[in-house]
Amino acid sequence: MFQAERRDVAYQPPKLSAPKEQDQPRLVHVPDPDREDMYFPDIWLRDNCLCKECFLPQTLSRLPQLWNNLDTSVRVLRHSVDRDQKILFIEWSDGHASQYPFSWLRERDFSPANRQRYLRECYRPEQILWSGQDFEQIRQVFYYEELISCDAALRQWLYHLAVYGVAMVKDAPLEMDVLRRLSNRVGFMRRTTYGEEFSVRAQPGASNYAYLAAPLPLHTDMPYLEYLPGVTMLHTLEQSASPGGVNLLADAFYVAEMMRDRYPEQFRVLCQTPVDWADIGSDGDLKFHNIWRAPVINLDAEGQCMRINHSIPQRDSHFSVPVEQVRPWYEAMATFVGLAHEHSSRFKTTPGDVLTFNNLRLVHGRTGYDDTEHNVRHILGAFIDWDIVYSRLRVLRNARQLT
Ligand SMILES: [Fe+2]
Ligand SMILES: [Zn+2]
Repeated sequence: MFQAERRDVAYQPPKLSAPKEQDQPRLVHVPDPDREDMYFPDIWLRDNCLCKECFLPQTLSRLPQLWNNLDTSVRVLRHSVDRDQKILFIEWSDGHASQYPFSWLRERDFSPANRQRYLRECYRPEQILWSGQDFEQIRQVFYYEELISCDAALRQWLYHLAVYGVAMVKDAPLEMDVLRRLSNRVGFMRRTTYGEEFSVRAQPGASNYAYLAAPLPLHTDMPYLEYLPGVTMLHTLEQSASPGGVNLLADAFYVAEMMRDRYPEQFRVLCQTPVDWADIGSDGDLKFHNIWRAPVINLDAEGQCMRINHSIPQRDSHFSVPVEQVRPWYEAMATFVGLAHEHSSRFKTTPGDVLTFNNLRLVHGRTGYDDTEHNVRHILGAFIDWDIVYSRLRVLRNARQLT
């Protein structure tokens, strides 16, 4: 296991010649008697004035007037600190006056340690990546009834899911509304072209490859959607008694980081070659034709892995790139698929289990199984978006801090 390090691969800051006057940070020094001094860019303080002309408390948001004609040359004329009341006062060159409580400033302090604290505590917990060997260590079980009745248990489940990308829920009833009840505890389900809840079982003449009893190699769900469902939930109602139907799961961010270290050129190819993902078909009366064009490994503005796309059946035969990019992509993809398989874990769910995992990060699959009249496998699936999960985590955290 290792923590995802911040490495700037995709983003190269522009090289500047001599810094210009407007590029200087122009910091306001705020001595804090209780801890380290703080420094704030003057223009940021002006933009975040808390007076009633500039800020609307009932919506906790900035009012837009300042931006009708933003004066970026605005300067601090005078500033002072009330050490007893712990308030910073500023008079501005545009005639405005502002005050900022220290409690508010400390929360927004630009020091590296405070920015890191805010990102980890409030934005998103830090992800811990794992290989198949680590799976038994990071595997954690949560109990359905506790998640339904107890906010602390709900928070622990979602937190574990955010950090490790996988969490197992046990002892759910064998009823059709389990995923809906779990989703409602978090917020609400995500609807896709396959509806809200979908049934995975062997169906002759199936419209989707997952609905066959054949082996299902490692994949992400629905890479052909721009707005990819974030969390997949799979509720086992019936499990095949045959030796097959075994779950496969791998942390594709771990695999991507391994490629970044060992095969940097192939890593670059998988980050920079757009692939056409597609799904054409129908579900009930709805006909659909979904396409999303994006690389296998998607990085954010800081070069961190953000999303993986991978599904062999749902990769289109259209490959809209120059011909010279095709073979290098296949070479890189062969490495990625081999490593994902090598670093995957295997286990078999039993009825009453709800397997939940991060569909932006993990690849999952299952071995084939024999489906007969007396030996069936029936899984119900549904999705929740990460926005909804993270929002719920923050609300639960804030509620706990108030009690
Ligand atoms: Fe799937
Ligand atoms: Zn103001």
